Amino acid sequence: MCGIVAGVAERSVAPILVEGLRRLEYRGYDSAGMAVFTGTEIERARVLGKVVGLTEQLEQKPLVGGLGIAHTRWATHGRPSEMNAHPHISGSDIALVHNGIIENHEALRAELLTDGYNFASETDSEVVVHLLAKVYSETKDFVEAFRQVVSRLEGAFALAAIHAEDSTSMMIARNGPPLVLGHGLGENFAASDMYALLPVTNQFTVLEDGDIAHVTRASVTLWDKAGELVERAQVTSTQSNDVADKQGYKHYMLKEIHEQPNAVLQTLEGRLGQVQVLPGSFGPDADSFFGGVENIHIIACGTSSYAGMVSRLWYETLGIPTTVEIASEYRYRQVAMPKNTMIIGISQSGETADTMAALEYAIENGARGVLAICNAPESSITRLAKITLLTRAGREIGVASTKAFTAQLTALALVAGYIAQLRGDDEFAAEMTAALKALPEQIVEALALDKQIDQWAEHILHKDNALFLGRGLHFPISLEGALKLKEISYIHAEAYPAGELKHGPLALVDENMPIVAIAPQDELLEKVLSNLHEVEARGGELFILAGEGVNYEPEQSNLVHIIKMPAVSRLLSPLVYTIPLQLLSYKVALMRGTDVDQPRNLAKSVTVE
Ligand code: F6R
Repeated sequence: MCGIVAGVAERSVAPILVEGLRRLEYRGYDSAGMAVFTGTEIERARVLGKVVGLTEQLEQKPLVGGLGIAHTRWATHGRPSEMNAHPHISGSDIALVHNGIIENHEALRAELLTDGYNFASETDSEVVVHLLAKVYSETKDFVEAFRQVVSRLEGAFALAAIHAEDSTSMMIARNGPPLVLGHGLGENFAASDMYALLPVTNQFTVLEDGDIAHVTRASVTLWDKAGELVERAQVTSTQSNDVADKQGYKHYMLKEIHEQPNAVLQTLEGRLGQVQVLPGSFGPDADSFFGGVENIHIIACGTSSYAGMVSRLWYETLGIPTTVEIASEYRYRQVAMPKNTMIIGISQSGETADTMAALEYAIENGARGVLAICNAPESSITRLAKITLLTRAGREIGVASTKAFTAQLTALALVAGYIAQLRGDDEFAAEMTAALKALPEQIVEALALDKQIDQWAEHILHKDNALFLGRGLHFPISLEGALKLKEISYIHAEAYPAGELKHGPLALVDENMPIVAIAPQDELLEKVLSNLHEVEARGGELFILAGEGVNYEPEQSNLVHIIKMPAVSRLLSPLVYTIPLQLLSYKVALMRGTDVDQPRNLAKSVTVE
């Protein structure tokens, strides 16, 4: 999603803004740009494509000045192009960057066209800069004009704007997408996340929805959504300023796949004792919060929702009625909220707009409170949660989630183990504790399957479609395997519970349809194997991840490929079976030559609806 960096300083801000944009690249974008007040006027540089292209342009023609705004754009209205890239300018003296969607842009555009404003782009964002110019022409006061304009906008937005007549201040606003202020000595900055500004400061103010700020080098004046002057606490970020690098791996995704044993260890650290989940791991209020839980709604999107689907089966084993809800649907449903429902919000970024809105809705709708499972400290979702369990997987740069997913599952397993302890289910708690302890080593063993996965990838490389099958705890893992494959290799992939095959998807099976099946040694094994024979009988090519003691007798050996999986625990086997599926999608994408870390059209942090 779009990223914003802005600054007002004595020194030249362009290098700081470029570094900030580079640090926001992980969010996903298609174009980049910057506008700087260079002494007498606002000058702009924009490119279609990567930040490195912007850097090259700035090397040819530097923009030198102490006031500037910069942006990475992820297209919503208007195709990816230099013309649609931000900043947008009105006349020659106002420049603006926008993250989000202006829902009333059509009405505003019509009004501005009538008033004689010309539009140079196809974006919804451009209406904001012209409206700002129009209101400024009436008020002659940039601060007042900006505040009036924000009050007329509908939708979700983070904004930063500068005016050529004041080289020492900028205006910013937040309503939805994240925006933080970073405070230096005699200089101030704003950005979509703290990481973008860590090279210049670790002191931040997190803007709340409805906030507007007038930011000078030495001061910040902040109004809340009611228009009242407000002071917000400054926080010191504890994030590491390490510039993520690939450490010898070809892609961040591959590095992150291999970081999973450590990500799991980090998630467990200080939370898992010898025989139990450590009391206190979830904070002082956890026992009373978890103690009264009678129902669970798990709310998430995409991969995070698949983590939720696995954990649902653990919570149901504990006798707690649990549903898993896609956030974008839940937020618009008339949800019947049972008594004492705990909401579990799962989000690696902590900023997913649909998840945020669904959690807010659940709170308003009478939920007991939110437990946030999140990989981003200080993110929006953690701020509305009663209890936050940080997954500590470390920064995930690859757009396709891998280590954040296994860390989410680890955190959800800790919660299940702890609730079991509180309810006196010692057997489940002991089994979960033992399984969690053994997990990092089992992931290491699964990573060693790398070479065998290469052979599978060569078979799947030229296919147009793939089916993934699993049952029980492993059905969500088949969904995740299919999602990973389509995200980064662009092969169309679907997942089904294996028992559903006969009810429709079997019609798709022929020699062109690879079927990736998860067949661990569990109570559903015999049923899965018989589903696989049905596939083989129709000429489908089978790729089976088989549990250590599993024997599948192929009818045609050239159509069946089997990888023997390491021994796993019953409860946490999904975390181990997901590893070869991640490797498979990575290798297929590598062979097809796609942009693995930043797949087309996708964003890491989905801050708009
Ligand atoms: C897929 C992927 C997405 C995210 C989804 C939710 O690889 O990463 O499906 O899981 O966009 O994002 P978060 O977890 O940040 O709320």
